[in-house]
Amino acid sequence: MLHGSLAGRLYLPLIAAPMFLASGPELVIAACRSGIVGAFPALNQRSTEGYARWLDQIEAGLAQGPLAGVAQVGPHAVNLVVHKTNQRLQADLKLTVERRVPVVITSLGAAREVVEAVHSYGGLVFHDVISVRHGEKALAADVDGIIAVCGGAGGHGGTLNPFAFLYELRRLTDKTLILAGALSTGRQVAAAVVAGADLVSMGTRFIGTQESPAAAAYKQLLLETSAGDIVYTPKITGVNASFIARSLRDNGIDLDRLGAHGAVDMAEELGPESKAWRDIWSAGHGVGAVRDLPPAAELIRRMRVEYSQALDEVRARA
Ligand SMILES: Cc1cc2nc3c(=O)[nH]c(=O)nc-3n(C[C@H](O)[C@H](O)[C@H](O)COP(=O)(O)O)c2cc1C
Repeated sequence: MLHGSLAGRLYLPLIAAPMFLASGPELVIAACRSGIVGAFPALNQRSTEGYARWLDQIEAGLAQGPLAGVAQVGPHAVNLVVHKTNQRLQADLKLTVERRVPVVITSLGAAREVVEAVHSYGGLVFHDVISVRHGEKALAADVDGIIAVCGGAGGHGGTLNPFAFLYELRRLTDKTLILAGALSTGRQVAAAVVAGADLVSMGTRFIGTQESPAAAAYKQLLLETSAGDIVYTPKITGVNASFIARSLRDNGIDLDRLGAHGAVDMAEELGPESKAWRDIWSAGHGVGAVRDLPPAAELIRRMRVEYSQALDEVRARA
């Protein structure tokens, strides 16, 4: 069930997902002013001070109110990586609490102290998982919602089928369940809701918008890429992730020759020397639906129309 603080508040049950180097304040502002949840990773800024400046920018943008036709501004969300190699976690969490960021999306670890800190000011914590076991652990840490990152997702995607994964998570909880992975249209948001999801988290489709800070050549490549061009491998970062085959080739990477990657290290993966994400471009299986690069508000309006039409069709058939 959708958390009470979000019920009836969103223009579309959608999160513009946090993406390393591919989402930033402009995209968050456009998403929230369009009435959905707009998210970004704190680590997209090099320092906690930079993260604070982005919060200033986002708060000023959201103070302009919702766009025409939208009832309410959606809540903004920050992604915090809860892992021992993320040396910024404590400072970023402190700032998140001071600034009362409405939604926190945690990835890798589900830590009770992070959840308690966010609950102290009434914020919500949604946690990314790729397995039911990790969902159980997150519920034990008292998160408010679980993001089921399924097979075909961009970034560090999972492998589970969305129907099966949602079904098993729903048996564990009636808290907010968010479906992520290869969802790129309004009709697919409707399908996720019919399947039992409360919200959808969409990444790849939002790289293909005017406001994404991704490189122009990356956006252009998305327009020419389809599901079959996505390679899922642990060899680039140490954790399974989806990359565009042509981007691997353009960076001279031959996966057959590449040895196994060592343990995941956030300082290395998300550091200035890292090529992963900056030069080696990621997308999910839903990339085939990225065939134009509109402003985010236009995309969200379009998806809202597709969503309503799809639900009307379902009702008519029923
Ligand atoms: C380029 C890229 C970078 C990402 N970086 C992050 C990240 O820093 N933190 C995070 O929690 N998820 C990250 N993700 C995952 C997204 O938040 C989301 O779960 C995923 O994109 C959903 O699948 P989709 O791309 O198929 O829509 C990233 C995804 C992409 C495509």
